[in-house]
Amino acid sequence: MEIFTQSGGEFLSRWGHYLSGVTWIGLLYYFNFVQVPSFAQFEAWPRTESIAKLVPRALWWFRWAAVLTVLSGISIMAFQPEEPLTNVDYFKIPQGISIATGVLFGLTMFANVWLVIWPNQRKVIASAQGVQAGREADPNAAAAGRKALLASRTNALFSIPVLFFMAATSHFVSRPGFEQSPESSDRLTYWIVILVMWLVLELNALGVLGGTGPSPIRKYLETHRATIIAGFILAAICYAMFEISFGV
Ligand code: HEM
Repeated sequence: MEIFTQSGGEFLSRWGHYLSGVTWIGLLYYFNFVQVPSFAQFEAWPRTESIAKLVPRALWWFRWAAVLTVLSGISIMAFQPEEPLTNVDYFKIPQGISIATGVLFGLTMFANVWLVIWPNQRKVIASAQGVQAGREADPNAAAAGRKALLASRTNALFSIPVLFFMAATSHFVSRPGFEQSPESSDRLTYWIVILVMWLVLELNALGVLGGTGPSPIRKYLETHRATIIAGFILAAICYAMFEISFGV
């Protein structure tokens, strides 16, 4: 049966990657585009109740879907005939550079989920559950919520180029419009620009560049609308670099 061959394994991994990716990014967009603006309009009591009872369930699916997305992504690579997990040369051709770009931003999103969003949201949830049980709210909950928000908005921003490069790998950059053996100097220029943008955006998400408060350098994270626009601008710059570096 074809489904038990190597290509069947790659295909099943892709299917798992779609299912988990949709679950993860669907919930990410729900948090950013629906829940945060709605909670800002809620009265205190329904907001506390929602944080105590609804948010933990949503975050459970969110963080475990993130794990499955990474595992199924690695599984696709394990089954691919190009053997990207062991063949370094794959990452020198446009397909490999495209997937490496998506994976760079995707793994950063994964780290943001488990190391920033979840630990900080736990504090917010614990505080809300404490209030429901008749205790005082945790005075640190608001600061924790802000850290989680900045990382979550940055993930929404990163998801736009992630989906572009994930999809472009097999469906766009393997076509004749791209140089299939790019010069190492072109690869170097490409990666310097991508890595600088990635680093600046992630350091800003973590509050390393001047804290987590409102600031002109964090304006693109203050509303979900600004974040969506910034995501498309980031994807356009990344693609422009790709085209300049590897277009024929
Ligand atoms: C951030 C969340 C992610 C989302 C939403 C996502 C989504 C996608 C999508 C839509 C595709 C295109 C599938 C196709 O063309 O059939 C794809 C391909 C792929 N993704 Fe992801 N992905 C994510 C993260 C990751 C991560 C973290 C890894 C690896 C650790 C990964 C590895 C792959 C691989 C290997 C492919 C196949 C590329 C190819 O066609 O050769 N993805 N992903």
